[in-house]
Amino acid sequence: MKVTASAPGKLMLYGEHAVVYGSPCIVTAVDQRVRVTVEPNGEGEIHVCSPNVGLDEYHKKISRLGKDDLPKSMAFVEMLVKRFYEKYQINEGIRISTESDFSTQFGFGSSAAVVAALTKALSSYFYKKMENREIFEMAYQAVLDVQGVGSGFDVAASVYGGTIYYVTPGTVIENVYEGNLPMVVGYTGVKADTPTLIRQVAELKRNEGWVEAVFGDITDLVNRAKILFVKQDFEQLGKLMNKNQKLLSTLNVSSVELDKLIKVSKESGANGAKLSGAGGGDCMISFTAESKRENVIEAIKVAGGVWMDVRTGAPGVRLESEK
Ligand code: MEV
Repeated sequence: MKVTASAPGKLMLYGEHAVVYGSPCIVTAVDQRVRVTVEPNGEGEIHVCSPNVGLDEYHKKISRLGKDDLPKSMAFVEMLVKRFYEKYQINEGIRISTESDFSTQFGFGSSAAVVAALTKALSSYFYKKMENREIFEMAYQAVLDVQGVGSGFDVAASVYGGTIYYVTPGTVIENVYEGNLPMVVGYTGVKADTPTLIRQVAELKRNEGWVEAVFGDITDLVNRAKILFVKQDFEQLGKLMNKNQKLLSTLNVSSVELDKLIKVSKESGANGAKLSGAGGGDCMISFTAESKRENVIEAIKVAGGVWMDVRTGAPGVRLESEK
């Protein structure tokens, strides 16, 4: 009587921030996954065990879901269960445990992966058939319940996997590339707070008329990138990364640490590099030819970054075991 589902984390390739305002973005799913297990607990309560976020045992009465104090790490799980239970009129106690290949530090989008995997696990546990579209919609709503902001691109990557072209709130979700990308990823060591950065850009947009034009330029480059993925032209895709990075810098979301890792990556042979995600820290990415890969990895380490050994274009949400 136990169901386990898993979902991948993600890395944003092009279009962050602008995607919140309706521009498209391109995101890839990574081979680091979150696994969520649902099993009975014999009590009319929800028990959650998430040792990866430092939470060994959390209890909540079903009638209190979404109410009272919500520890930050539990909010996504709780809001998702609340939505699922309300939709299907369920009142049964369960135990949920989560486990992750990646630390929440790296900005691979663990909350999106958790809600995607949890929706899949619940749908199987309670025999409620849900297509990926329904899983995406419910998981995205739970993220909005908690964060209030966000384009849902990370939820789409966790549900559908692959490398996708995405327009919020899921009006376009289209795979643009099959398989692993020639990418090198570096972690700055600095944890970024996405909602804060989204609000900072919103403030800039309210006060500065030129921000609209920057979003327009980002839209153009994402659409060009989409075509280049089909042609597998990673040289030009690298140049578009540089262009995207310049535009993100004008929005004040890069950081000294990101700039440093981006600079050394380019100097040691990457086709192009940029921050990935909200900015302010987390990861940078580059497209790098196989012949230059070791040089770029070494340069990231020497510059004080952490090389992240990830493969991209990973499969989306799936069941790992059924009851
Ligand atoms: C954060 O990883 C990417 C942003 O575009 C926010 C979002 O799309 O939800 C800044």
